[in-house]
This record gives sequence, C-alpha cells and structure tokens, in this order.
Amino acid sequence: MNPKTTIERAKEHFGKIIEEQLNRVEALKNSETRENWTDYKSLKPIVIGVIGGDGIGPYISRETRRVLEFLLRDAVESGKIRFKEISGLTIERRVEVGQTLPDAVLAEVKKCHVLLKGPTTTPTAKDGSWPNLESANVALRRELDLFANVRPVKVPEQGIDWVFFRENTEGAYILGSRGVNVSDDLAVDFKVATTQGSERIIRLAFDYAHRNEINRLTVVTKANILKATDGKFLGVADYVAARYPAVKWDSWFVDIFAAKLLDPKRRREFRVVVLPNLYGDIVTDEAAELQGGVGTAGSANIGKRYAMFEAIHGSAPRMVEEGRAEFANPSSLLRASVLLLRHIGFVAEAEKLETVLDFCSREKSKRKLVPSGRSDGATCTEFADFVMKTIPKI
Ligand code: IPM
Ligand code: MG
Repeated sequence: MNPKTTIERAKEHFGKIIEEQLNRVEALKNSETRENWTDYKSLKPIVIGVIGGDGIGPYISRETRRVLEFLLRDAVESGKIRFKEISGLTIERRVEVGQTLPDAVLAEVKKCHVLLKGPTTTPTAKDGSWPNLESANVALRRELDLFANVRPVKVPEQGIDWVFFRENTEGAYILGSRGVNVSDDLAVDFKVATTQGSERIIRLAFDYAHRNEINRLTVVTKANILKATDGKFLGVADYVAARYPAVKWDSWFVDIFAAKLLDPKRRREFRVVVLPNLYGDIVTDEAAELQGGVGTAGSANIGKRYAMFEAIHGSAPRMVEEGRAEFANPSSLLRASVLLLRHIGFVAEAEKLETVLDFCSREKSKRKLVPSGRSDGATCTEFADFVMKTIPKI
C-alpha cells in the first residue's frame, strides 16, 4: 500500500476513536448527575446471576453458589434474594456466534443486579486455538460500566492490609482490541484517561479511606513518562484530595511501588491504593501472590447500577485437560463472595464466610481440607462442604 493511503487509513481509525471517546465523556458527565447507586436495602428480590464461564469456572462457581445459598437461605426463602443461572458465556458459544458477549447472555445479565462470575477464556493473537476475540471480562466491565475494581489483600501476620482500587473501564484496556497494525512493521495501541473516569475511581478510593478512617492513600502512576494520561490521573488525584483533608496521601511511580511491595518494612505502610487499569492488573497479581497466590484473592467490579464478583485468576484449561477440575480451589471465588455479600448489605454473612476462609488459609499446611489443585488436596466440593459445616460454629 502506498504510504499516503496507509497514513490516511490510520488517521481515519484514530478520528473514529476520538469521536467515540468524546461522546463517552459526554455520557460520563450525564451519568454522574443522573444515575444513583443501586439501593439494595429496598430492592426485592436482589437477583444474583451466576455465570459458570470456562475451564474450572463451572466447578468453582457451582460450589461457591452452594455456599452462598447456604448463607442466604433465609433471604432466599423470604424472596429477598433470587439466584439465576446464566449459561452461554463459554468460549465455544462466543466463537459460534462470533460475539465476545453473545446478545442473549448480555440480555440475561442485565436482568440481574449482581453477578458471580467464573473465569472466562481470553484468546491471544499468538495462541491460535480460538479466534482472537476481545476478553469477555473487559467487555462486561465496559457494557455494565463497572468502573471500580476493588481488590483487598491481607496478610495479618506481616501487617499487610491493602485495598486496591483499580480503574476498570479506561486506560490501556478500553481500546485494547482497537489498536492498529499500521503497516507490517508498525503497531500502535491507544491508552485513554478522562477527567470523569479518573475522578470517579479516585473519589471512591478517598471516600473509602475517609469512611473507614484510614489515614493513608497512595496514588500509583507512571506520570513522569506517560505525561498525558497518567499526568491527568495524578492531576485529578490532586484535585480530589483537596476535598478529603483528613486523608493523608502520596504519589508513587508504579515501578518503585511494585518493588516496595516486596519490602517487608515499607509495605505495611500502604493501605488504600488507587491506580490506572493496567498497573492495577499487574500490581494486584503481585500483591495476591504475597497473600498465598492469585487463587486466594477475590475481585469486585463495581458500578453504580451493576456489580460483578469474580476470581482474579484465569480458567486453568490445563487442569480440565488433565482431569483435575474437581480439585480446583474455589477460594478466590469464595473471597469474591465475601465482597458480594458485603456489597449487597449482608455484612454478618460476609464476616462469617471471611472468618472461615481466614481459618482455612491459616490451617492449610496442617490439614487436607484445602484444595491444592491436585488429588493430594480436597476436591472443591469437599472444601465447600467443610466451609458450610464450619460456618455455624463461628
Ligand atoms: C483480571 C484478569 C483480566 C484482566 C483478564 C482475564 C482479562 O487478569 O481480572 O485481573 O486483565 O483484567
Ligand atoms: Mg489480572
């Protein structure tokens, strides 16, 4: 192709993206004033959608649902809570209909208030086993406007008590499937930050710190290099912080922040952390590893209207191929359920479940009750049974 046409095509693509993003900013401005947070107290029923997903997803979500039904049995009986199974968010079905989020699935999802979601397969260009569809997670977060990804990590014996607020709808992710291979040799991706998108996540983090009387908030960027997008994020933080004089805050670059998470003396000082999408993705895996692995951490994707709770790990297809799916560890999804219960106002139930999970992770080395992913550990059904047997004793 001649260079002029190449440039024109790229410009056209960029023009379209800018137009869409400017429209998005307008929509964000409107939703800020018009949309209210869902009021779960007055809602009857609260519909909890359960999405199995791929790989070990159906196994761990089935067991997690059983535990949730056990904890919420009175609320289910009284009609306050209703569970709804949502099928069809599998890689096979997505490929068959050629949609990241099949229309039928999205329609069902929108009939729910909160979702419990098993991991879904995310194809990559090099993998080749599936067409290179966009990630279902990313699409759900965008479609349901789940702008806050909240991920707690705790290691009490080491003084670690962190809550990460990862921006969930912009940054490097929003146009992750819309980059361009301008020529055979030139690839360009786009990263986006808006004032409104940055402000709502940063405000949520400050608000959380303020309400919980946590006097330490850290903003993580790479604003020295990514001057436009991360520069905006940091600038907005500065502006939001002025409204929370009681919350002491500081700003770190992501590289040194990631390093300091490994420093046993310094890391205890961090408490609430707010960061753009991709840094949040990477840093929360690192943080979860310190807690015992990504299999031990839950993740809440929160928007004003909907909320989705999931594991932070993937679908582990190898476990299924090797016939080990029954031994998958549902802990991450159970941790996500703690966040779900708290989010919809079932705080006592959340605390019971959290206490049992904390107990299990402490006792892990001594007992055969926690799944190890292999036949030397418990199956996910045995583990769920143990959790339910232990809850009444709390
Ligand atoms: C996560 C996951 C997802 C992400 C993947 C599965 C799309 O790694 O929730 O952190 O990159 O956000
Ligand atoms: Mg991740």
